[in-house]
Amino acid sequence: MSASAPRLLESIQSRQARVGVVGLGYVGLPLAVEFARSGFAVTGIDLDARKIASINDSRSYIPDVASDDVAALVTAGRLKATTDFAVVSELDTVNICVPTPLRKSKDPDMSYIVSAVEAIAERLHPGMLVILESTTYPGTTEEVVQPLLERSGLKAGVDFFLAFSPERVDPGNGTFNTRNVPKVVGGMTPGCSELARALYTAAIDSVVPVSSPRVAEMVKLLENTFRAVNIGLVNEVALMCDKLGIDVWEVVDAAKTKPFGFMPFYPGPGLGGHCIPIDPFYLSWKAKQTGFEPRFIELAGHVNSSMPHAVVDKIADALNVHKKPLNGSHVLIAGITYKPDIDDIRESPALDVMGLLHLKGVRLSYADPFVPALAGTAWPGGYALDAVGLDPATLASIDCVAILTHHRSVDYDSLAAGATLIVDTRNAIKRPHPHVFKLGAPHAAHAEVWQPFARAGEEAA
Ligand SMILES: NC(=O)c1ccc[n+]([C@@H]2O[C@H](COP(=O)([O-])OP(=O)(O)OC[C@H]3O[C@@H](n4cnc5c(N)ncnc54)[C@H](O)[C@@H]3O)[C@@H](O)[C@H]2O)c1
Repeated sequence: MSASAPRLLESIQSRQARVGVVGLGYVGLPLAVEFARSGFAVTGIDLDARKIASINDSRSYIPDVASDDVAALVTAGRLKATTDFAVVSELDTVNICVPTPLRKSKDPDMSYIVSAVEAIAERLHPGMLVILESTTYPGTTEEVVQPLLERSGLKAGVDFFLAFSPERVDPGNGTFNTRNVPKVVGGMTPGCSELARALYTAAIDSVVPVSSPRVAEMVKLLENTFRAVNIGLVNEVALMCDKLGIDVWEVVDAAKTKPFGFMPFYPGPGLGGHCIPIDPFYLSWKAKQTGFEPRFIELAGHVNSSMPHAVVDKIADALNVHKKPLNGSHVLIAGITYKPDIDDIRESPALDVMGLLHLKGVRLSYADPFVPALAGTAWPGGYALDAVGLDPATLASIDCVAILTHHRSVDYDSLAAGATLIVDTRNAIKRPHPHVFKLGAPHAAHAEVWQPFARAGEEAA
């Protein structure tokens, strides 16, 4: 280990190290708060001046982080924020939590990482620890981050320390948070690993060291690919069940009673959020560079991205039973965030469903307690919408309600009672109703049409 490592280790263990977090979003802010709570003086850096003002004003803009917690840490002088990277010169450690989106071509967009690392490189100083947390393809830390930082003339593992540690935060999860989810860490050298491990051990209950940044990068992509593939599988099973006249929700609920070898995943209108629809394509892109064709990722992506179309078909079928066409009907989308109980609409499949319905001449409204207004630029329809309530008067004016995300605070029994027609893609309404059509489940009105066809097929065979 280099001469400066023991000094940094000692300052981490004594909480004297000055800790920085670059990118204060869903990942970075909870991490900064956790470091500050564990006794470090933490500086957050973000390009978004509104986020910086909000933190320095003791206001959280991330639902999982309480404003009271931010206020206590800001008042104690343990948390502050700035847009100015000059502060990096005074920091001992920096965690990078900037976005890693895909380009339209489904290639990784590394521009946020590159820009943040270039800004750090200008202020890199001997003895500093840099940890990348953004989800990215295996090799990024060594192939992209290390060369950019070494432009400073300092050498990784010798003059400064470098590691990768994937963030595993699950926004809206009341049980698992930044502190109690084990943190995987892979350093460039054993010395880098030891320092990164010491930093996380101060703030996080359990740290899992792995042999290299590349392994740590791959761990995250395995986790997210596992989810994308299993969601793709259950979505395909849902479409199959629809055709077979079987309720997929009943099937999954019964299958999950097996105490080993099965883990439940649930169908839905498609994948959303900043991780599951995107991260596997980082892996796929990197694998293709080596001539390897990753078939599961592509297939799951194909099934999952077809789900908004399946939902539109289901809405059309349901309206058809009421002798109504899509064109001119008024559909209310209930829940537009990508998953329940959060305010995030990034990559939400609800926006795709709305765009497809808009193209077919559907009049659209939406209700979502977490999203009071939707900008015209946020969805393919291109016009702004304000959220409506799910009150009886509103429901009476709607031809079909499509439940695309099931927030806990919504009373689905009242919704079932007040709406004339519902398409439920989340099994939010548990009891059967003649006017509720479920994704992946038969409906009496369709079964009557379907069964004679099925019997004809059996007789022909
Ligand atoms: N959101 C999740 O559930 C989740 C979970 C695990 C991992 N991740 C990964 O963590 C990373 C961050 O995701 P997020 O959801 O927190 O994103 P986010 O968009 O909520 O936050 C990123 C922040 O980085 C800031 N930023 C962008 N470029 C910057 C720069 N050059 N310098 C300083 N700040 C900059 C943005 O203003 C924003 O505030 C991504 O790689 C993502 O894949 C996200």
